[in-house]
Amino acid sequence: MAKERILVIGASGQIGVELTLALRKIYGNTNVIASDLREENELLKGTGPYVSLDVMNKEMLHVQVIRQNITQIYLLAAILSATGEKNPHLAWSLNMQSLLNVLDIAKEEHLQKVYWPSSIAVFGPTSPKQNCPQQTIIEPTTVYGISKYAGEFWCNYFHHRYGVDIRSLRYPGLISYKSEPGGGTTDYAVEIFYKAKQEKKYESYIDKDTYLPMMYMPDAIKATIELMEAPAEKISIRTSYNLSGMSFSPKEIAAAIKKHIPEFSISYKPDYRQQIADSWPQSIDDRVARNDWGWKEDYDLEKMTKDMLDNLTV
Ligand SMILES: NC(=O)c1ccc[n+]([C@@H]2O[C@H](COP(=O)([O-])OP(=O)(O)OC[C@H]3O[C@@H](n4cnc5c(N)ncnc54)[C@H](O)[C@@H]3O)[C@@H](O)[C@H]2O)c1
Repeated sequence: MAKERILVIGASGQIGVELTLALRKIYGNTNVIASDLREENELLKGTGPYVSLDVMNKEMLHVQVIRQNITQIYLLAAILSATGEKNPHLAWSLNMQSLLNVLDIAKEEHLQKVYWPSSIAVFGPTSPKQNCPQQTIIEPTTVYGISKYAGEFWCNYFHHRYGVDIRSLRYPGLISYKSEPGGGTTDYAVEIFYKAKQEKKYESYIDKDTYLPMMYMPDAIKATIELMEAPAEKISIRTSYNLSGMSFSPKEIAAAIKKHIPEFSISYKPDYRQQIADSWPQSIDDRVARNDWGWKEDYDLEKMTKDMLDNLTV
């Protein structure tokens, strides 16, 4: 097998840090080049190469791909759901153009593989709320969801038209303790752990009985790497795979935290993000991912809560 040289774009973000570290373990530190618009994340320092890169600058991106002999790209740069609603044009422009830049270069340079995440935000109010299937009505109402859905079809197009081996997952809300979240609607499920440890109380901007699909970061990293390592013939979905770990409401996660911190209390003050949450499914049917490449999560709410509280240092 040819030696892989991997470029991670958006490596200083919530997923990027952990994915870069995981890829470095598999492919070797020097073969995984971390890149971001912002400075190198502290956790990445000293673990491998880092380049400062704006994915919107296609020429510079192309130069890096050639100079570093890149064979695979993981594109993680994006503007997320809550931030996107504050600046819709910027979200559309970054989320679309970054993907088109990467796809064009992947085609031109015959890259081995590309990874680009989509999101449960592709679903909208008309999609089924429970066990939302892989193929269903999809009418997103956020600019983030619109950009992800359009992106899925660009991935599918580049695969079928030009043979680019691009793979994608519709991540649920991701919960992690290493790097902080970057402006999504589900960030409350991370903030709650910081506040529980620091102040023993949390005011949630999502209402108490609002269920959302969620996943613990180790499962998201595992899913990403398993998808990328699966033989191409196992990949039947070239838009983006539904992926599920757990579903819970603010009330339920608060109760799980209370088992470890009995004095913890939660209050509710829904804001504009409630409307975004209300437009998404409460749970996801990911049978296609399970059947195609054997997806199975390791963490439920209880196991994740314990691990978060054990590892989060505030
Ligand atoms: N975190 C989640 O819960 C979640 C859920 C579903 C999908 N996703 C998707 O996963 C991907 C990564 O998400 P994340 O949570 O790590 O986001 P994040 O905001 O934490 O990280 C994104 C990174 O991209 C960088 N970036 C922004 N503009 C850039 C540019 N022009 N050039 C280079 N880098 C740039 C940012 O500096 C940041 O470090 C995104 O595509 C996101 O839509 C995330």
